[in-house]
Amino acid sequence: MKIGVTGATGHLGRIVVEKLKEKVTSDSIVALVRSPQKASDLGVEAREFDYTRPESLANALKGIDNLLLISGNEIGQRAIQHKNVIDAAKKAGVKWIVYTSLLHADTSSLSLADEHCITEAALKESGIQYTLLRNGWYTENYTGSVQGALAGGAFTGSAGDGKISSAPRADYAEAAVAVLTGGGHHGKIYELSGDESYTLTDLAAELSRQSGKNIPYKNLPENEYADLLKSFGVPEGFACAIAGWDTSASKGDLFDNSRQLSKLIGRPTTSLASVVKDALKGSE
Ligand SMILES: NC(=O)c1ccc[n+]([C@@H]2O[C@H](COP(=O)([O-])OP(=O)(O)OC[C@H]3O[C@@H](n4cnc5c(N)ncnc54)[C@H](OP(=O)(O)O)[C@@H]3O)[C@@H](O)[C@H]2O)c1
Repeated sequence: MKIGVTGATGHLGRIVVEKLKEKVTSDSIVALVRSPQKASDLGVEAREFDYTRPESLANALKGIDNLLLISGNEIGQRAIQHKNVIDAAKKAGVKWIVYTSLLHADTSSLSLADEHCITEAALKESGIQYTLLRNGWYTENYTGSVQGALAGGAFTGSAGDGKISSAPRADYAEAAVAVLTGGGHHGKIYELSGDESYTLTDLAAELSRQSGKNIPYKNLPENEYADLLKSFGVPEGFACAIAGWDTSASKGDLFDNSRQLSKLIGRPTTSLASVVKDALKGSE
């Protein structure tokens, strides 16, 4: 039985392959990647796989039974890219697709939700068995700003008092591996999120506690936060998107207390304190 992993040279995909190798033999894993050269350190077979080249995808999927489709990172292009993969999977006889979607994709106000809903619908229409991993926010999305917050003396955002139930990528990767190597997941939709929920004020307090510096949370209106990000060199479209996601967070769209992630991985999700600690180590 062969498991294909798309996006295997990305942040999440690399951890998935690493953790899959602990559960199944390396020769049953195929990394489906844009650049096989970039995958040479993964220690598994790598096949060229570009979502934008539909004509080549079915051939690359030959012999793959189960596929982890990691959503692409080209916002606005993903619905068509993912459809290319699903169509090719059908042609190639893939039996099961596990897809990384977005937390509460069907009700979320996040601008990202539409593309995920379109892909979810395409999976349902394909007739292939599927499982939806509706991943919540990566804690790293916020802890990636730790250095900037320390330099600027404040943690800035637009999320207000919205509660965020995030988990680090490694937890979501472990869940993907648990699903891919376990039974009884066909047709299931998992809402995956961290056990712990926090506001950005809580995050700033944790950063202050661990760094020994006073780093308050500064909440800005969405447009001012977008302007600030632009002033740091973030491209306009992306700056506006990030600020918009924070507004969605302020409405509770990144909150979930179903604890399905910890149930899947069989342990509590990694704490915010632990991810902040790692981020501070990285900024030393
Ligand atoms: N839950 C969250 O908080 C959150 C945050 C950010 C992103 N995401 C989503 O989760 C996915 C995985 O996260 P990540 O951190 O691993 O992102 P990432 O590091 O940006 O990885 C994205 C992967 O998608 C691959 N990819 C992009 N376009 C492709 C194409 N046209 N054909 C084939 N492969 C393509 C990339 O290939 P290369 O290695 O060749 O670049 C990369 O391996 C993201 O792509 C995005 O959809 C979720």
